Amino acid sequence: MAAFFQSLAPQAPDALLGLIALFAADGRAGKIDLGVGIYRDDMGATPVLRSVKAAETILLREQPSKSYLGAEGDARFTALLSDLLFGSEPAFADRLTGVQTPGGTGALCLGARLIARAAPGATVWIGSPTWPNHEPIFREAGLAVRFHRFLDPATGLVDLEGMLADLGEARPGDVLLLHGCCHNPSGAQLSPAQWQAIAGHCLRLGLTPFVDIAYQGLGDGLDADAEATRRLVGQVPEALVAYSCDKNFGVYRDRVGALWVSAESSAAAATCRGNLLSLARVLWSMPPDHGAAVVRIVLDDPALRADWEAELAAMRARINGLRASLAAGHPALAPVAAGRGMFALLPVGPDEVGSLREEQAIYMAGNGRINICGLTQASVPALVAALQPHLRPAEGK
Ligand SMILES: Cc1ncc(COP(=O)(O)O)c(C=O)c1O
Repeated sequence: MAAFFQSLAPQAPDALLGLIALFAADGRAGKIDLGVGIYRDDMGATPVLRSVKAAETILLREQPSKSYLGAEGDARFTALLSDLLFGSEPAFADRLTGVQTPGGTGALCLGARLIARAAPGATVWIGSPTWPNHEPIFREAGLAVRFHRFLDPATGLVDLEGMLADLGEARPGDVLLLHGCCHNPSGAQLSPAQWQAIAGHCLRLGLTPFVDIAYQGLGDGLDADAEATRRLVGQVPEALVAYSCDKNFGVYRDRVGALWVSAESSAAAATCRGNLLSLARVLWSMPPDHGAAVVRIVLDDPALRADWEAELAAMRARINGLRASLAAGHPALAPVAAGRGMFALLPVGPDEVGSLREEQAIYMAGNGRINICGLTQASVPALVAALQPHLRPAEGK
C-alpha cells in the first residue's frame, strides 16, 4: 500500500522553542534569556495578573453553564474590546463587525480565510522584517504574499520611502498588513505623519489595510497605542483588524483575541459577518471561552478594570525604563529608546548572535531580536558590555 504521508516534507522545528531548550540546559550562572516573546517581571517570572486571578475567581463562582456559545464567541467580550480598541461609538460603528477568535493568530487566520473567499487573487503585502508567523498564515490560506521594505537595517528606523516605493507595485484589491503598535520584531514606531502617508497610499492605490494589533497598552498607553488603528479604519472604506489579548492581559495559553472587519456599508458588514461565522464554524466551530470570559469580567467591572490598567501601566513603565537604559549604554543602541513594545532588533548578525550565546550565555533570536523583558536594570550593563565589541562606534566619534 502506498505510504499516505510520504509526500510530506520535513519541517524545521521552531527556532525559538529550540532556544528555550538550549537556555534551560545551560548551567552558567548569570545567563540571560532574551528569546521568547512573553512579558517577564524583574524576577524573570510571568505571573498571572492580579486582576485576571480575581476575575477567574468570580468566573468559577458565578459561571452558570458551559453549554455552547455560537461561532461568534462571547459577544459582550467583543463589544467591550471593541470600545477599548476603537473608542466608544466610533464614526464607523455601523459598518464594523467583530467576532471572538482563538488569540491573535486565530484572528489573522480567520481574516486570511475571509480575504481568500472575497478576493482569492489578492496579494498580501507584508513589511520586512515581521513576526515569522505572518507569511505562512496568509500562504496557508492560499494567498500570494509579497514583502516590502519597512525597516532600514543601517539606521534601525522605518524606511517609509522604501516602503511606499515597493508598494507602487501593488494592484488595486491587494491587502497591506500593518502592525498597529509595538512592531514585532523591531519595536519601530510609525509617526502620525507616516501613518497618514500610508493611509493616503491605501486610498490612492485601492489597498485594503489589515492591522495586526497584539500589544495595545504595552507601548505608550491604551488610547495612544490604538490611535493609529482608529484613524486608519476611519479613513478607508474597508479594513480588517486582528487583536490579541494574550500579552496585555497575560493570558497567553488561554488564546484570547478578536477579528473586526469594517465594510463599505452596514449591509456589507452583515454579509462579512455571515462569512466570518461560516468560516469560524469550519476552523474551530467556536472559540475557547475561559480567557475571553475573564477579559470580559475585567473590562466590565470598574474596580477590576482600574486594577488591570494599573498592572498594564507598570508593565509598560518597566519595558520603557529598560529601553531607555539599554539605549543609554551605546550610541548604536539609540533606536531602542525610540521604539515601543517588548521587542528590539539589535544591530548584530547571526555569527555575533552565536558567539554571544556561546561565550557570554546571552540568548536571543538569530536575527538579533531581543525581548526587552528578559532584561533587568541590573543585567543591562552586562548586555551592553557583551555587545560592545560588536557595535559600530557613533558617527563622527
Ligand atoms: C505581531 C503579532 N501578531 C500576532 C501575534 C499572535 O498572538 P497570539 O498569541 O494571541 O496568537 C503575535 C504573537 O507573538 C505577534 O507578535
